[in-house]
Amino acid sequence: MNFDPLNMPQHVAIIMDGNGRWAKQQGKLRIFGHQNGVKAVRSAVNFAAKHQIKVLTLYAFSSENWNRPEAEVSALMTLFMKALDSEVKKLHQNNICLKIIGDKSRFSESLQKRIEQSEQLTSQNTGLILNIAANYGGYWDIVNAAKQLATEVKQGILEIEQITPDRFQQALVTEDQPQVDLLIRTSGEQRISNFLLWQIAYAELFFSSVLWPDFNEEHFAEAIRAYQQRDRRFGGC
Ligand code: FPP
Repeated sequence: MNFDPLNMPQHVAIIMDGNGRWAKQQGKLRIFGHQNGVKAVRSAVNFAAKHQIKVLTLYAFSSENWNRPEAEVSALMTLFMKALDSEVKKLHQNNICLKIIGDKSRFSESLQKRIEQSEQLTSQNTGLILNIAANYGGYWDIVNAAKQLATEVKQGILEIEQITPDRFQQALVTEDQPQVDLLIRTSGEQRISNFLLWQIAYAELFFSSVLWPDFNEEHFAEAIRAYQQRDRRFGGC
């Protein structure tokens, strides 16, 4: 695959974009694209686990995606349910720790229950951390953290002076996970779309023209190669 296994990004985040266009190209409904997107999710997870990436975060459903037609939203929910049912055992066998990050309160009771069971089952696993961002938005994450800290100040268990970037980070959904080193977006779009705003402060950005259902391990490797050629200075010189 032609990259340096000793210089891997610790945390890779992916905006999985282009399912709808992929389906349209084949004259099919958008949901057909999402269904095929699940295969690409599998291959990205395999790649990350095989190459010792510590954290993989996938943007599955943004806070704004509720604005899509009801039929598409409900088909996506069914797809998440099915994927949880069919994949969690395999994730567990592969020592992967699954976390669903986002505002889960808007999901159906049954989906919330399945999420909780899946997270519980894999919580002690020590391999790849797989974050699935569902009903996630970067603004929501930051505001949610601010509310938590404000509550602690109000309760007298936190001093305002103790609010540092590190302390703030602990209140975000990614808690003590490393910040994102590499952010990939597929389908040729070049924007962040309210994903992990805080966590990507120093991320390297990689935009691939491949539509998500076609994104395979070789495409992932190409992004890693590009990352390894970057000169990361973190504000230094
Ligand atoms: C973006 O493509 C994709 C989504 C909004 C949904 C992503 C969902 C999956 C890949 C399947 C399920 C995932 C898991 C984790 C089980 P788009 O619909 O915006 O495509 P377009 O830009 O071409 O219209």
